[in-house]
Amino acid sequence: MEKTLMIQEINRLKKEKNAVILAHYYQDGDIQDIADYTGDSLYLSQIASQTDADVIVFAGVHFMAETAKILSPEKTVLLPVKEAGCPMADMVTKVRLLNYKEKHPDRIVVCYVNSTAEVKALSDICVTSSNAEKIIKNYQGQKMLYVPDKNLGTYLREKYDLDMEVWPGFCCIHNDLTLDQVAKMKKKYPKAELIVHPEAKLEIVKVSDFAGSTKGLLNYVIKSNHNEFIVGTEKGIIHTMKKACPDKKFHILSNGLACYDMKLTRLEDVYLALKEDKYVIEVEENIRLKAFEALNKMMKLS
Ligand code: 13P
Ligand code: SF4
Repeated sequence: MEKTLMIQEINRLKKEKNAVILAHYYQDGDIQDIADYTGDSLYLSQIASQTDADVIVFAGVHFMAETAKILSPEKTVLLPVKEAGCPMADMVTKVRLLNYKEKHPDRIVVCYVNSTAEVKALSDICVTSSNAEKIIKNYQGQKMLYVPDKNLGTYLREKYDLDMEVWPGFCCIHNDLTLDQVAKMKKKYPKAELIVHPEAKLEIVKVSDFAGSTKGLLNYVIKSNHNEFIVGTEKGIIHTMKKACPDKKFHILSNGLACYDMKLTRLEDVYLALKEDKYVIEVEENIRLKAFEALNKMMKLS
């Protein structure tokens, strides 16, 4: 089907089914442009819990759609591409976390939103990259475990001097960034500021001018007096940044900054999701209730 026609059909089906499309900033520009809301994990979770639509089409990865379902169980939540997952979210499993908790019953489990419902259900509280610093301050002085992102966990531990163990998970694209790449890009664009997502290693975050969630990075470039940026996060966000700041320049820190799973979703998948009601996300009720507690605590402290 031709693109303009497909967009018309998406809009028609959206009305017919009282649906809303949420898209993460890492989605392709085409998807971000047809979405009703684009944002970071926290913002999209907040929208999912507040919308009065009957159907949520989540253009993102599995844990995001699952989080929407946990927060809005009465709604139909659709993930356009069944296989779109987050490899980091799968680096901590229910069995391993239970095993850890048995050995360390005194540690509060802080769970990054990039995790499965089962892991959230075993956690005391969830965080995202945009509220982790604010929330973690409430637990200063207590024993904690942070799952699954070792980089964001280490960043928090160092910055706030926490008694926090960190799980050895990581994001395969942010974790690959190197100081060598930073040096080359700074040499090529000496006037540009370096902005990075805290899923990058601490050594990269330390040499950056600003580190924050995808929304944090976007707000930073909008407000900054600088005109040029080296961007250390998934390249989809450059579409959003260019739209918000057409006169500023953005250079991706590495061409490897493309999330394979985020890029699986195409316009046609969004259309088919709406047309054929696929793929429906379900969460077992006893798991959902426990995961909801950890997410709800986060929402209240955000
Ligand atoms: P944000 O919460 O900053 O949108 O990040 C989600 C993510 O998956 C980053 O890799
Ligand atoms: Fe997961 Fe990394 Fe992709 Fe974010 S960018 S969804 S953390 S694999």
